[in-house]
Amino acid sequence: MSNKESWGSRIGLILAMAGNAVGLGNFLRFPVQAVQNGGGAFIIPYLVCFLVMGIPLLFIEWSMGRFGGRKGHHSTPFILDSMDPKRVFWKYIGVFGIFTNLVVAAYYCYLESWTLAYIWHSINGSFTGLSAIEIASFFNNYTALSDGAIETIFFWILCLVLNTWILSKGLSGGVEKAAKIGMPLLILFGILLAIKGITLKAGSEGALFDGFVGLNFLWTPNFDSIWSAKVWLAAAGQIFFTLSVGMGTIQCYASYVKSKDDIALNAMTAGWMNEFVEVLLGSSILIPISIGYLGIDKVVELTQSGGLGLGFRTLPYLFQQWGDVISVAAGVAWFGLLFFAGITSSLAMGTPCMGFLMDEFGWKRKTSAWAFGITILILGLPTVLFFNHGVFDEYDYWAGTVSLVVFALAEIILFAWIFGMDKGWKEINLGADIKVPTIFRFLIQFVTPLMLGWVFIASLPDIWSKINNIDIKAKIAASTNLTEIAELNTQMNYLNGSRVLLLGIFVAISYLVYVAYQKRIKEGRKTA
Ligand code: TRP
Repeated sequence: MSNKESWGSRIGLILAMAGNAVGLGNFLRFPVQAVQNGGGAFIIPYLVCFLVMGIPLLFIEWSMGRFGGRKGHHSTPFILDSMDPKRVFWKYIGVFGIFTNLVVAAYYCYLESWTLAYIWHSINGSFTGLSAIEIASFFNNYTALSDGAIETIFFWILCLVLNTWILSKGLSGGVEKAAKIGMPLLILFGILLAIKGITLKAGSEGALFDGFVGLNFLWTPNFDSIWSAKVWLAAAGQIFFTLSVGMGTIQCYASYVKSKDDIALNAMTAGWMNEFVEVLLGSSILIPISIGYLGIDKVVELTQSGGLGLGFRTLPYLFQQWGDVISVAAGVAWFGLLFFAGITSSLAMGTPCMGFLMDEFGWKRKTSAWAFGITILILGLPTVLFFNHGVFDEYDYWAGTVSLVVFALAEIILFAWIFGMDKGWKEINLGADIKVPTIFRFLIQFVTPLMLGWVFIASLPDIWSKINNIDIKAKIAASTNLTEIAELNTQMNYLNGSRVLLLGIFVAISYLVYVAYQKRIKEGRKTA
């Protein structure tokens, strides 16, 4: 076995795991999801989903990972396989744990590269003196590749190279170091911006409302839509995405934990750290500042059309109201924070495929890192070139939303019902530095699987209407404008095309798993 890496220290492992979880999802996705789903009406389902699905899945994934790692497996195909050696199909379910990471990394790294460009432009003073409209169109031009194609591509490639380079340094030498630098800085920047956001005063620096207006909007519990399936699905989706569960990354990181080291306390520390960052910092920056300047209605309206607008199109303009010096500092802090949040997550997305290549094909770490870098360059290209045709969002929907639920449902059935709850509970508690409350045994066995099953079934209508392009077809039918119809038709082709591409990727990874399996049989290496 060529793959004998492990974590350098416990604090390094926890920071890397927290870095995996804390990402762009905490600062860009969470606030927007909360606003879109009614502010205070979102928070109750969100917290319930954290307790009932998030925490149980953290325990499961950490213990699956350590279990698989003990047997020399570092990616989900053979981790799952080793938990039920009698059946052959689990390794193909495990394909999700590589697929999600590759596809999410493909669009995530592009998004991450914008933060580098925006740090540069904040320092450079490019935003100074621009009007709200000019700053918004700066973003449109940037992603439409209209006037600065070279710049957009430059920052994107830079970001990919940076990720690949850190990954090629290994876990303790690369990933862990990045987390040790990135996480404290991110929290520092976050706290500074949060203080600024919360202390925003109506009437000073051009603000219309106090920072508290936005916070109250988010945090005043509101029971109106608590029975809405849509709000629950959004809350569950956010919990999965932000904790990085259902993705195969936690299993991979945990597979490098020593076989009897604690996972229970580690899982809770990293998980709660993510919630601290999301709930305290994630809700005290984007929303209080935007609502302070624009009011609730306007912000709700802005978040209806795509979530990235606020963070990139609006915030740099609002920072300008704080004067030349502070606006530069705020821009660097905000985009710097996003960059560190992003890179510690994209590094995590790289490790499962690297683990797979190193375990199964004996590749060197460096080669595997470059293989990952080149793969996401190729997969990311459509999201860069056809951003305005919705390819980016399509990747996010299938890999960042649907696939997590399917995989989480499959793995919890495997863990609780096939591997078995007795063995599973022992695994979770092995070496544990805390006493895991027994209620979690009950949750893992019954409640979480049922909730996941419900989330999956309740998402089916939406999945069906996506596959059939129902929304676009309705728009086409309603339109009388020929150019618009032509545009919608082109968009539909791009969406269909990206789905075929994603399916192709899934099939290709499954084929590699098949080859690896045959290779194992030939070499007489047991899978379990
Ligand atoms: N949790 C990260 C965020 O909040 C996203 C993330 C980390 C992720 N690792 C992942 C998404 C692996 C998919 C696959 O931004």
